[in-house]
Amino acid sequence: MTQTTMRIIKADNYDEMSQIAAEIFISKIKQKPDAVLGLATGSTPLGLYKNLIEDHQKNGTSYQQIHTVNLDEYIGLSKDNPNSYHSYMMNNLFKYLDIPQNHIHLPHGDAVDLLQECERYETIINDLGNVELQVLGIGKNGHIGFNEPGTPFSSKTHIIELKESTRQANARFFNHLDEVPKQAITMGISTIMKSKEIILLASGEAKAEATYKLIHGDLTEQLPASILKQHPAVTVIVDKEAASMLD
Ligand code: GLP
Repeated sequence: MTQTTMRIIKADNYDEMSQIAAEIFISKIKQKPDAVLGLATGSTPLGLYKNLIEDHQKNGTSYQQIHTVNLDEYIGLSKDNPNSYHSYMMNNLFKYLDIPQNHIHLPHGDAVDLLQECERYETIINDLGNVELQVLGIGKNGHIGFNEPGTPFSSKTHIIELKESTRQANARFFNHLDEVPKQAITMGISTIMKSKEIILLASGEAKAEATYKLIHGDLTEQLPASILKQHPAVTVIVDKEAASMLD
């Protein structure tokens, strides 16, 4: 068993988890108005984004100097495809904020030269001086970004073959499983680890086992999230269902 230095916050429910995460983001933005924020997709961060939008509208927290980098994008989907993570981010966050378009970064899933695109993306993150605060969800199999089990901890931004279980889990966003891309571009595990601070959100019973293994299991490439045990500033925020296997 590996000793963890991660800070664990148990929230009563999804809304409280989202609110706590939003407070951490908002205080970071206030403290550093030109921070680079690392963002994630999926169902889990939707409540966080809702809170950020409400705060922007009510309190005027500004994103004019903020830059964002997202974890990943499906290969083969153009920016305008409604299932692309570009569209997800526009529709669930960016269109409500005052962030300049050219401050928003996601990998281009429809790039002609995908290897070059991976290098371009890694360079963007380095040139921005790395991520100040990164939010992560967790896959049922312990993936972070789209780094599936078995991905080397040393990986940089790269192309990944999605596991069938991941495609099935994400099929709910598409009309049919066949439409779910088989590959993605994802920040690598070493890219994620360069973030100065990380918040991992886990909600719902489906994440209870991955959450348990993250906190109590071994450091192993078979559970990509387990690398976070080695990061000096990780906060894991879980709701009751995701915490149900913890002591
Ligand atoms: C996707 C994303 C991950 C996300 C995970 C969990 O595969 N690439 O970044 O954390 O799914 O998604 P959800 O929050 O919908 O459970």
